[in-house]
Amino acid sequence: MKILGTGCANPSCVVTNQMLEGFLDTSDQWITERTGIKERRVMSSERLIDLAVSAANKALADAGVGVEELDFIICSNVVNEYATPAMSCMIQGAIGATCPCLDINAACAGFIFALDMAEDKLRAGKADKILIVCAEEPTRMVSWEDRNTCVLFGDGAGAAVVGQGDAMKAVKLTTASRTDVLYQLRRLEPTPYLQGDHSFAPLVMKGRDVFKTAVSSSTADIKDLLARTGIDSADVKYFVLHQANERIIDSIRGLLGEQPEKFPHNVERYGNTSSASVPILLDELSREGKLQKGDILVLSAFGAGFTTAACIIEWTK
Ligand code: ACO
Repeated sequence: MKILGTGCANPSCVVTNQMLEGFLDTSDQWITERTGIKERRVMSSERLIDLAVSAANKALADAGVGVEELDFIICSNVVNEYATPAMSCMIQGAIGATCPCLDINAACAGFIFALDMAEDKLRAGKADKILIVCAEEPTRMVSWEDRNTCVLFGDGAGAAVVGQGDAMKAVKLTTASRTDVLYQLRRLEPTPYLQGDHSFAPLVMKGRDVFKTAVSSSTADIKDLLARTGIDSADVKYFVLHQANERIIDSIRGLLGEQPEKFPHNVERYGNTSSASVPILLDELSREGKLQKGDILVLSAFGAGFTTAACIIEWTK
């Protein structure tokens, strides 16, 4: 597998920390010191499908791949306004593709889970070109009265087109069932046969637990991949980590004994965009000309589940 092109799209509405001070018992200082986030993009006039389609079209153009060449579409999404059909079906129709498609939910680790699935399909000879779109609107999962969660998130979409190649050097996926630390309950319809509690709840997060698990598991994943491949961390150009919190990124960096320049971040501008965060950052690095052919990149993400995923890829564009 190799990445042929990337794209991203973010909502137009910018919500700064100062704007949150207007209706929440919070401050720019608290949010900045605890998370590094200064502002986030929040859905207002657009719909998530618009962002997903825009990111997809940009990735296809960047890759120079036509929709008719696509053999499969994978969409990583936790929540959107439709429970069914899958968002990938809507993307397929909107971009004019005809290939089969599927949604996955591996929370914030979704992009790397999708890369792994895509690689399996390419290796098996079942596909030649695959579109991955990560489209997320976590700002619609949180209560905007809960300062513990709503200040952390932003919406967005990131996409990549992948094809045949040997850029994927190693990948590691983990799942540890810990459904108490990060979850949202949605309401299901009552039936004549199933009564009782149909409660729903906006996102619940045990922040400190998530913080510690994220740091330890991401660090372990990265160390494991470097050891397994024999790649020296000095040869890694960038560690492209899930953008949840600058302090999490910094803690992982410290445990790896690495320099800050190798940990690019945009969490200060977008907040946590769930599975879209890694492909958005990758696309920004690519478009800013910061990635050269042959660069070794480590990607690592973690999220609800608890899921973690990491991989080492060579940039081949
Ligand atoms: N503004 C002001 N005060 C706040 C806010 C806020 N927005 N939120 C919480 N506080 C208060 C708390 O109520 C608490 O007050 P108390 O001491 O009177 O009870 C105080 O600040 C300290 O709270 P802590 O939880 O100790 O703060 P901490 O330093 O741990 O930072 C944070 C909290 C930012 C949530 C941190 O734990 C974190 O980043 N955790 C990981 C979150 C994350 O990454 N989630 C998503 C990852 S997975 C995914 O992407 C889906």
